[in-house]
Amino acid sequence: MTETALPPDGPRRTRVRLAARTLRTDRWWVGPLFTTLGLAVFVGYATARVFQQDHYWAAEYHYLTPFYSPCLSASCAPGSAVFGTLPWAFPWFLPYALVSLPFLLLFRFTCYYYRKAYYRSIWQAPTACAVREPHARYTGESRFPMLGQNLHRYFFYIAVLISLVNTYDALAALAHGRDGGFGIGLGGVILLGNVILLWCYTLSCHSCRHVIGGRLRSFGRHPVRYRLWTWVSALNSRHMLFAWITLGTLMLTDFYVLLVSSGTITDPRFFN
Ligand code: FES
Repeated sequence: MTETALPPDGPRRTRVRLAARTLRTDRWWVGPLFTTLGLAVFVGYATARVFQQDHYWAAEYHYLTPFYSPCLSASCAPGSAVFGTLPWAFPWFLPYALVSLPFLLLFRFTCYYYRKAYYRSIWQAPTACAVREPHARYTGESRFPMLGQNLHRYFFYIAVLISLVNTYDALAALAHGRDGGFGIGLGGVILLGNVILLWCYTLSCHSCRHVIGGRLRSFGRHPVRYRLWTWVSALNSRHMLFAWITLGTLMLTDFYVLLVSSGTITDPRFFN
C-alpha cells in the first residue's frame, strides 16, 4: 500500500505559486467584461429613473412603470397610486416605490445566478477558472456580511408579492381603454410581456424550486408537487437567461412608459 506523504503539520491550504496570473491563453476575460458592462448599464439606467420622479405614469392609458410600483408618495400622479399613499411627499432621494424596490434589489443581489455573475466579474473571487484572484483570503459566505446571502429564500416570498402587484398593473392597463372598458395598446402588450418574464424569473428561482419540491422523502406520495417541481425545474434550467432578459425588459418597459408619459410618442392602439 502506498502512503501519501503529508507535511508534518497536515495538508496545508496554500495556492500554487505562479508568477503569471494565469496560464490560460483563451479570451477568458470576455465573459466577466460583458457581465460588468451589462450590470453597469442596468444599475445606471435604473438609478437615474428611480430618482427622476417624473414620467412614470401615462394616465390616458393607465401605464405605470414597474420602477414606481406601487407608488407610495403623497406626490404620486393622480391615479397612479392604486394601493394608496403614505401621508408624505417623498424628497428626491426616496424612491416612490419605497416598499418594493429595496426588496427587489435584495432579491436580485442575493440571487444565486447574480452572485456568480458579480463574484466573478466585479468582486473577482474567482475571476474565472484557473485565473488567480486578487484577494489574499477566501472566506466564502460563512461570515458577515456575506452570511446575509442566505436570506435569499425570504426575499423570494416578497418578490412573489411584488410580482402580483406588477401583474395587477399590467392587467389594469388592459382594463383601461381610451373609451373606458377593455383596450389593448402597444404599451399594454409590453407591460404584459414584461410581467410574464418577471414571473418566469421569479418562479425559476432556486429557492422556489426548493419550496415546491424540497424536503420530500418520496415524490411518489406527492404527485402534484412532483408535477409542479418538474415545471419549475424546467424554468430553473433557464434562470440565467431570465435574469438577463428581465433586466432588458424592465428597462424597455420603463423607457416606453417614459416616452408615452412625456408625450414623446403616442401609444399605438390595437383595440380601443
Ligand atoms: Fe436567482 Fe432565486 S436563485 S432569484
